[in-house]
Amino acid sequence: MGMTDTIKDMFKSTPEVGSLQDLFLEQLKDVYDAEHRILESLPVMSEAATSTKLQAAFSKHQTQTETHVTRLEQVFDMMGLEPERKSCAAIKGLVTEAEEVMDEAEGNVLDAGLIAAAHAVEHYEIARYGTLRAWAETLGMTQAAKLFEATLKEENQTDVNLTSLAEDSVNPAAFSADLTASSKSSTASRASR
Ligand SMILES: [Fe+2]
Repeated sequence: MGMTDTIKDMFKSTPEVGSLQDLFLEQLKDVYDAEHRILESLPVMSEAATSTKLQAAFSKHQTQTETHVTRLEQVFDMMGLEPERKSCAAIKGLVTEAEEVMDEAEGNVLDAGLIAAAHAVEHYEIARYGTLRAWAETLGMTQAAKLFEATLKEENQTDVNLTSLAEDSVNPAAFSADLTASSKSSTASRASR
């Protein structure tokens, strides 16, 4: 390398996120924020749900999410850092969507909408934890990779459980509720005309 290259290197502007380590830390903070927002949202969704099975699924995932937060704190600790949140725009949006469905729907239809919202959250988390696990492996952070893997398994299982719940009971219930509601509302709208 010539002198010019060395000088160029010296003056090369360092991007804020200049390495895989930096990217890893940013994503760790992002998912740490996401898990906190999910912790706030799950009790609200559980409260709004009609199906007792769905309420149970949400509260089970609430307990798991507390563990997910603890695991992330363990990873921060391994890095010698204090846990820090970086506002996760994606989860904010998905929580807003869940709030919208809670405003707009009710009963069994709301349950179906809540599962759809929860699926979106789980898929987001599955994507994030998959990436974090892969980066942890590349960075030689074997223990962290194992923690991400443990969380990933629980997110995947939650996703599968929600699908079964939707297909076995919630969607059919929403469909029959919808038929009743639409015949009622067409009567109501005719009456109000
Ligand atoms: Fe989680």
